[in-house]
Amino acid sequence: MKGWSFTLRITPLRTGIAAAAAVAGGLAFGWSGLFNVAATTGHWPVTDWFLHFVMINSVKTHSLSVETPENLDDPALVARGAGHYAAGCAGCHGAPGRPRSPVIREMVPTAPDLEPKVATWEPKHLFWIVKNGVKYAGMPAWVAAEEREDEAWAVAAFLLKLPGMPPEQYRSLAFGAENDGTANALNAVKPEPGASGPREDVLADCARCHGRDGAGRDNAAFPVIAGQSETYLLDALNAYAKVERKSGMMATAAARLPDEELRALAAHYAAQKPAAAKGAPPADPALVAAGEKIAREGVRETGTPACAACHGPSPAARNPAYPSLAGQHASYLESQLQLWEKEHDSRGGGPFREIMRKIAFNMSEHDIKAVAAYYASLPPGK
Ligand code: HEC
Ligand code: HEC
Ligand code: HEC
Repeated sequence: MKGWSFTLRITPLRTGIAAAAAVAGGLAFGWSGLFNVAATTGHWPVTDWFLHFVMINSVKTHSLSVETPENLDDPALVARGAGHYAAGCAGCHGAPGRPRSPVIREMVPTAPDLEPKVATWEPKHLFWIVKNGVKYAGMPAWVAAEEREDEAWAVAAFLLKLPGMPPEQYRSLAFGAENDGTANALNAVKPEPGASGPREDVLADCARCHGRDGAGRDNAAFPVIAGQSETYLLDALNAYAKVERKSGMMATAAARLPDEELRALAAHYAAQKPAAAKGAPPADPALVAAGEKIAREGVRETGTPACAACHGPSPAARNPAYPSLAGQHASYLESQLQLWEKEHDSRGGGPFREIMRKIAFNMSEHDIKAVAAYYASLPPGK
């Protein structure tokens, strides 16, 4: 008699049985509780390597079609990114002069010190990580990721400057004249009934970016908010806090505050003397003249109404729900008008915002630039 023989033929039925057995085995292992989820044991080096390998390749593949803007060296962009970094990222990743906390070091995977990491990525990869976050790792996506790619780029612009940045330079970029440590975005603020103004630590956080007087910093990174009406300021703050007017930067600053605090801040900034944007570049007189014509007369072809009817300058008092634009940074006005045009569902905070949606929708790039230059050239308070 011949010896016992067995040939394995792969049939659809056998493949199906093997797959079902693998799934059942996996479920049984999960159900048994034998897998150790303790972060204390970390990953095996090979698992660590593999997860990072997957992450790096995923980021590179998914950012293939991302176009990198040309202005990543713009100091205003870097300052805006630094301001947000201090509140939204440093708590996990640390910052120059501020090492990561021992608690964060125990995360698996941990939030790494980013200084040595930056050079391992291209700018668009950093942008992609900031915008999208990293699944299964605790690296959060940007609040309003789709609507505010401009903000994620600002953070990427800052990250590119991070390697070797002296703590002093970081401090002045992220905190301005305020003390280091005023940004504590992850802590909710408790109401303080009966307080007569905003809390000192809260005002100090706003002041890092807008100044205590609301006049902003000596770059165009942040809008001037001094002397806007209390109504407009409060509408804006409420909308940011609820992420209806979408900004990951302002949501971080406002969402942790109780209503009383938002009201106190609106009152504080409304009481400041109207101020002109600091350090604004000189405007092209021809552009300003073209902008004045649009603001006073509108543009018939595009159905654009005269801005002055609502935003001034006008002898009539302005409706307090309409913001003042005089003396604002031209670059801020431009970027807001572009946002109103492209992301109109996520703009504005007040009851009349529908009006502005329709107006911005038809404006040409040239008209946006012109009218922004005109309003930036006006003395504040007009
Ligand atoms: C809650 C903690 C946490 C916060 C807040 C956080 N991150 Fe992360 N981040 C992580 C973790 C964890 C990883 C590691 C992901 C991995 O290894 O797969 C990470 C990874 C990264 C990386 C890739 C680093 C590498 O491995 O090369 C970058 C870049 C980054 N974060 C930037 C930021 C920026 C910028 C912010 C703020 C907008 C931010 N992170 C906020 C936890 C955080
Ligand atoms: C990290 C920097 C930063 C901090 C901190 C910050 N802001 Fe802002 N703020 C910004 C940026 C950037 C914008 C523009 C957002 C946008 O695109 O809508 C803005 C917009 C605003 C606006 C709307 C201005 C307008 O003309 O519509 C108000 C009001 C405001 N901030 C108030 C505050 C208050 C009050 C605080 C403190 C709770 C604060 N901000 C904290 C950066 C900051
Ligand atoms: C009929 C009234 C009306 C007219 C006309 C009008 N706006 Fe507005 N605009 C508004 C309202 C209302 C808002 C504020 C929406 C909100 O936040 O609730 C606004 C907001 C804005 C903002 C955002 C300001 C900031 O600080 O973030 C800009 C910029 C702006 N308008 C520019 C213009 C320009 C330029 C024109 C002319 C082409 C114009 N507007 C015409 C009513 C008007």
